[in-house]
Amino acid sequence: MTDTLGGWRRTHSSGELRASHVGRTVTLMGWAFRRRDHGGLIFVDLRDREGLTQCVFNPETSGEAHTRAQEVRSEFVLAVVGTVQRRPPGTENPKLPTGDVEVQVSQLKVLNESKPLPFPLEEEIEVDETVRFRHRYLDLRRPAAYLNLVIRDQACRAVREYLHAHGFVEVETPFLTRSTPEGARDFLVPSRLTRGSFYALPQSPQLFKQLLMVAGVERYFQIVRCFRDEDLRRDRQPEFTQIDIETSFLDRDEFLPIVEGMVAAIWRRVKGIELPTPFPRLAFEEAIARFGSDKPDLRFGLELTDCSNLFGGSEFQAFAQVVAAGGVVKGLRAPKAAGMSRKELDDLTETAKSLGGKGLVWAKVNPEGLQSPVARFLDPVRPALMSRLAAEPGDLVLLVGDQMPLAATVLGRLRQEVAQRLHLVPEGEFRMAWVVDFPLVEWNEEERRWNAVHHPFTAPRDEDLPLLDTDPGRARAKAYDLVINGQEAAGGSIRIHQQSVQEKMFKLLGIAPQEARARFGFLLEALEFGAPPMGGIAAGLDRLVALLTGEGSIREVIAFPKTQKGTCPLTDAPSPVDPAQLRDLGIRLVEEP
Ligand code: AMO
Repeated sequence: MTDTLGGWRRTHSSGELRASHVGRTVTLMGWAFRRRDHGGLIFVDLRDREGLTQCVFNPETSGEAHTRAQEVRSEFVLAVVGTVQRRPPGTENPKLPTGDVEVQVSQLKVLNESKPLPFPLEEEIEVDETVRFRHRYLDLRRPAAYLNLVIRDQACRAVREYLHAHGFVEVETPFLTRSTPEGARDFLVPSRLTRGSFYALPQSPQLFKQLLMVAGVERYFQIVRCFRDEDLRRDRQPEFTQIDIETSFLDRDEFLPIVEGMVAAIWRRVKGIELPTPFPRLAFEEAIARFGSDKPDLRFGLELTDCSNLFGGSEFQAFAQVVAAGGVVKGLRAPKAAGMSRKELDDLTETAKSLGGKGLVWAKVNPEGLQSPVARFLDPVRPALMSRLAAEPGDLVLLVGDQMPLAATVLGRLRQEVAQRLHLVPEGEFRMAWVVDFPLVEWNEEERRWNAVHHPFTAPRDEDLPLLDTDPGRARAKAYDLVINGQEAAGGSIRIHQQSVQEKMFKLLGIAPQEARARFGFLLEALEFGAPPMGGIAAGLDRLVALLTGEGSIREVIAFPKTQKGTCPLTDAPSPVDPAQLRDLGIRLVEEP
């Protein structure tokens, strides 16, 4: 057998050497990160995944190695043999863990050469995302990018260890399957053997995990890829990974602590942080009322306060009319923000309008009174308003009047913007919360029918079951979302396991029996064979890891991510295919008009 390494064996990593290694002969292998030619001496920073080690080529130590080092360029793959020595006093690099030492090289082998890179790997240098992802294999050589992969791995390991310790079994489910009920658009895969038919890639393993409960698996989990053809954002990819979980014989209050334990295990492993459990719980309505969002960021206060009764019947027509029409006036106190510029206030007003709000009323609380375009309308209620909002001189007060939930969601968004502008969002802090008691269904005005807020298998709260017949919009679901720092990190529910309730639900959603049978027949049939009470959750792994790493986009924590347009800059997928492939599938493309 030929040995490309010529019998050389790596003895240490490039992140490992310390003063205690001085005098040892070592063999390192890695990439030439930087090369500096100081006339007599050549320095090469050798990099591998563990770190950087400074290698010195001295013609007096080895003329041959020194000569060969002159040919070395960035990202050449090298093997070096040498002796660890202390760096001369004053040349230590306290920023590097290996910064006290260097390796005096006696032998150099160039294992491979490299073309000049399309972009520099120095962390400080900002490189366009498309260029980085086009050469993601180079991008991942950057220590920070690699660290994201390691953190993702640590999180997965913590999940597996925790769930295995709690009796969960990891089971795989099909990718080539039928449409699932998550409500996004499906990615379709044409069948060659059954021409004219298509598989759908799963939007989640929802139906299969419920079948596994009917099968008696009791505690299932899977770290699994899901596929959704939807508009992409910083926290959305067309393929993403869920930590998917389903259990039998547990009600919500037994189940949520298991999930909290898992999240705590991840944070303990990755961040060394002990999260306080149980996580606080907020009812959906309360979350909207206090924070104007069903995923409130609890790292800062700025809660919304109802001020409706101050304006009902007041001189201030804009608000008085809103209240008369059954709407509300929501207020927010931004502490010490009276210095906000007119431009900033105009920006906030624009945001309010872009969300469908009528506008924004702002007032600066000055010692001598309120400064506001509508000061004369606010003045009569000033003392009551100040005390309602606990506002003081130097504060800024924001008011939005509208129907619910619009008034709250508009002011909720302004709450986030104000927190950013005032630097009230603490870095490196994590605030988890459950949002529970979501509405079961919401009215779809366009199609004039009820839609499931989660999916059609989500159970209503027992006490709200009669509302399905009388006032469906008020029925609450046994659904829960885990919110971390204002992001939806996980969502799940207790399922309907009784056929009669399921039929009622389909009827409410306007899903005809034939349609239900066509779409989910296999699940409905299974539910007739002794389905146990069941419930579960799915956490977005990419989002969790983005939170753990502090990355603003989940693309940075995925090894080979897609762009905002759903394309892969590395492979150029999606791409046209060979006409012969289409012929095999019985597919003919139509020209776009
Ligand atoms: P849901 O649709 O809420 O629930 O998804 C669960 C979690 O998955 C993450 N997520 C995404 N992450 C990245 N890109 C996307 N396009 C994307 N879509 C969702 C979110 C979300 O909270 N079957 C149900 C779960 C259940 O009921 O058990 C489901 O899929 O973090």
